[in-house]
Amino acid sequence: MPSYVRAGELPPKRHIQFRRPDGGLYAEELFSTKGFESVYSLLYHLRPPTATLDVRPWKRPPAKLSVNEPLRNRHLKTQSLELKGDDPIESLTPLLGNDDVLISVAQATAPMEYFYRNTGGDELIFVHHGTGAIETQFGELAYRERDYLVIPTGTIYRVAPASPTRMLVYQSNGAVTIPRKYRNEFGQLEEHAPYYERDFRSPVLKPPVELQGEYEVRVTNGGRNAVYIVQNHPFDVVGWDGYCYPYAFNLDEFAPITGKLHQPPPAHATFEAPGAAFCAFVPRLFDYHPLAIPVPYNHSSVDCDEVLYYVSGNFMSRRGVEEGSITLHAAGAPHGPQPGAVEQSLGKKSTDEIAVMIDTFKPLQLADPALRCEDAEYFRSWVEAATI
Ligand SMILES: [Fe+2]
Repeated sequence: MPSYVRAGELPPKRHIQFRRPDGGLYAEELFSTKGFESVYSLLYHLRPPTATLDVRPWKRPPAKLSVNEPLRNRHLKTQSLELKGDDPIESLTPLLGNDDVLISVAQATAPMEYFYRNTGGDELIFVHHGTGAIETQFGELAYRERDYLVIPTGTIYRVAPASPTRMLVYQSNGAVTIPRKYRNEFGQLEEHAPYYERDFRSPVLKPPVELQGEYEVRVTNGGRNAVYIVQNHPFDVVGWDGYCYPYAFNLDEFAPITGKLHQPPPAHATFEAPGAAFCAFVPRLFDYHPLAIPVPYNHSSVDCDEVLYYVSGNFMSRRGVEEGSITLHAAGAPHGPQPGAVEQSLGKKSTDEIAVMIDTFKPLQLADPALRCEDAEYFRSWVEAATI
C-alpha cells in the first residue's frame, strides 16, 4: 500500500495475452479491495487460482466476548497465558474485540503445513519476539522482532518461524492504512511523517511453485469459515504489480516526533483502520521545556477505549506492568501516572520504553482468556499505597 511495487515477469500491458515458454497462457488475477475502487494488484499465475477441488467445513469456535462491566480499567498479563498450537492460526487467543477489530495474541513455533486466508479484512501483526517469514502469493516477507506486518485481506499466507515467535494480532473488518495526515495529495508520505517509503519492506518474490495436488487453504470471513482444497499451488506467481501487497515496518525505523512539551498519542500514530487508530511509543528524548513533566497527564478518553501493549523497557508511568502486559483504559475511566511516577520522572531526559497502542471508537468487549490473565486489582493502582 505505501507505494507502487512490481516484481517478477509481467506482460507489457494489463489484460492482454501473456504466454508461458511452452506457449500456454498465464492466468491473470486482479487482487482488488473495496470492489474495484481502492488499491489493487495484478498477479500472473502459472495456472488459474480458481481450481477448487473441494470445500469443507472449518469448525472454528467463534471468539466469545462479554461486556466490560463493571466498566473499568483492566490489566492483562498475557505472558502468563499458555498458548495452544504451533502456528498463529491454531494458537490465536482472542483477548479484546468489537465489531471493528479483534485483538489476540498468538505464537508460531513450527512452519504451517496449510495455507490461511482472511477475506474479512486486513490483519496487522506485531512481532514481539522471534524471527521467520510470512510466505504469500506476493513472495516472502521476512520478519523480526518489533515488526509490524500488514496483511491485506485476501492474502494467502503461511508462517514459517525461524525461532519461536510471539505476536500480537489485530484483525480489522476493513483496511489498515497509513494515516491520511501523513500523506500528500498524491499519497506520498510527507516530510513531517515519522517514517518514509524506504522504511517499508515489501515481499521478495520467489520462483513460482509449479506443483499441482491438493492444497488446504483455511478461509475465514467475519465469522464464516471454510477449508478450501485447491488444485494449484497458491504460490505459482511469476510476477505481480500494484499497490496492494503485504508489507513490513520495523519500529526501530520509526522516527518519533518529540517536542518542548508532552506530545499526545496521535503524534505517535502508525496506522489507522475503521473504528481504530494505532500508535507506537519508542525510545525517544523527553520534552525539553526546563520544567517539563515527562510522563503523561491524567486523563479520561471519553470517546475511545485505549489498549496499550508493553513490549520492552521501563514503563515509568505504569505500576505493575511487565513485558507482554496489556492495559485497557476504558472510555471515560480516569487514568494517568501512578502515585510517585510524576516526581520520579522529573529531570529524566529520555526513555527506552517500547509499547504499541490501539484506540477503538466502539467499546471493546473481553474474551475469556483476558479474564484468565487479568490483574484484577489494577483499577486501584492509582490509590496511594498507604491508603489501600
Ligand atoms: Fe490514556
